[in-house]
Amino acid sequence: MNKTACIVLAAGDGKRMKSIKPKVLMEVLFKPMLGWVLDSAEKLSPDEICVVVGNGEDKIGAYLETRDGKYTVARQTVRLGTGHAVMQAENVLKNCENVLVLCGDAPFMDEETMRAALKMHLEKGCGATVIAATPDNPFGYGRIVRDENGDLLKIVEQKDATIAEQHIKEINSGAYWFNSKDLLEALPKLSDSNASKEYYLTDAVALIRGSGRRTAVCTAAHKAVVLGANTRNDLYCLNSFARMAVIGDLLQKGVEFPCLDGVIIGMDVTVGQDTVILPNTIIRGKCTIGCGCEIGPNSLIEDTVIGDGVVLNNVQANRSTVDSGATVGPFAQLRPGSHIGYEVKIGNFVEVKNSDIGAKTSIAHLTYVGDSDVGEGVNFGCGCVTANYDGIQKFRTKIGNNAFIGCNTNLIAPVEVGENASTGAGSTITRNVPPNSLVVERAEPKVVHNWEKNKMRKRK
Ligand code: UD1
Ligand code: CA
Repeated sequence: MNKTACIVLAAGDGKRMKSIKPKVLMEVLFKPMLGWVLDSAEKLSPDEICVVVGNGEDKIGAYLETRDGKYTVARQTVRLGTGHAVMQAENVLKNCENVLVLCGDAPFMDEETMRAALKMHLEKGCGATVIAATPDNPFGYGRIVRDENGDLLKIVEQKDATIAEQHIKEINSGAYWFNSKDLLEALPKLSDSNASKEYYLTDAVALIRGSGRRTAVCTAAHKAVVLGANTRNDLYCLNSFARMAVIGDLLQKGVEFPCLDGVIIGMDVTVGQDTVILPNTIIRGKCTIGCGCEIGPNSLIEDTVIGDGVVLNNVQANRSTVDSGATVGPFAQLRPGSHIGYEVKIGNFVEVKNSDIGAKTSIAHLTYVGDSDVGEGVNFGCGCVTANYDGIQKFRTKIGNNAFIGCNTNLIAPVEVGENASTGAGSTITRNVPPNSLVVERAEPKVVHNWEKNKMRKRK
């Protein structure tokens, strides 16, 4: 058989977090903790990944749907502890030889540590191998109690620990490899006679040892991998830690941060060298940023791909692409589906949505471009609008290369402006503009003489 499975515990009530959200969906660097755990588990390619759900299971189910991975789900209808949670995944245990149990609220457990623990687990032929570390503050975690030979004797929870045990600095990460058969035998023997009146998974370790099987401790390479979040304060600490880890890594790669105030960068962001990130800039989701860019200040960039030498100043960008040499902002918004071409200039108070903007086009001021295909070298005057929505349907606007859109033009879609064509300032363009032509579509001037006098007379 020789199969491995992974069980992720995610059913807990998370009362200490004081939130209507299930705890495992609370975010560290904008990614749910459960997402971090599943990302790591997937790197091991186990035969099955099972998530134990209970509190907020609909929300967790919805989150799992958004992910690419394949998961089985086990239901824990009443929360009677981590041991009870694993029991709900009995079928998973029956189907594999070794199982990795992970906590959904400990996001930093990494592939390297889990692989090292499996190696030890198999080499020593253990019934249970616990991943442990010695963090700066062990309070709240289960403590590792070793025997005189240094082998793992048992795990004692904070609430149940004697004063002497509370002085132990080495803690249980909540991640373990078990021999499935040994675990299946131990689980029914768990008791809830402890301070929390819960069936602790941690007690399975002592039971497995008691049955004559070997139990081991694998010390994590980095002490931070064991950190978990039970409270808002813990979550804040995890965010701070992860934030500085990402920034530290980018500094190593040649990214420049003159000041870190308000700078938060997600895990799935890559940034090229000599790019400068200015204060109050958040970059999250899957983003790729090229070399020699200047991003910020005051910008929010999400799921966006940015070329080299791009300047984004006070920009909100979401699910867009910005090609090399483009400058955007200040105070501009790129909404989903925008492609900003090479050396395009997007100026202040410009919004672009679901549009393709060709190379070297300039949209410098106070303009909305939505659902449009704009050619290269086009110039938009100030205050132009593509009217893409008639209240029921959305339509596209097409603008050919080198067209000139006069100030304050409304383009009523569906409509096309040909190559090299111009629109007169203040026009509301309702019909296609032929290439190389000028179209002025606005009312002829109407002069009402003595208007001021007439008004005065009526009022009397
Ligand atoms: C647990 C460990 C502790 C370890 C710590 C690491 C136990 C008894 N204790 O403590 O030794 O140091 O994790 O972070 O296991 N869960 C369920 N169903 C339940 C209870 C919990 O699915 O009935 C899930 C939670 O959603 C959470 C995980 O199990 O993801 C851990 O539960 P939690 O209550 O946070 O355990 P800790 O007190 O942190
Ligand atoms: Ca916890």
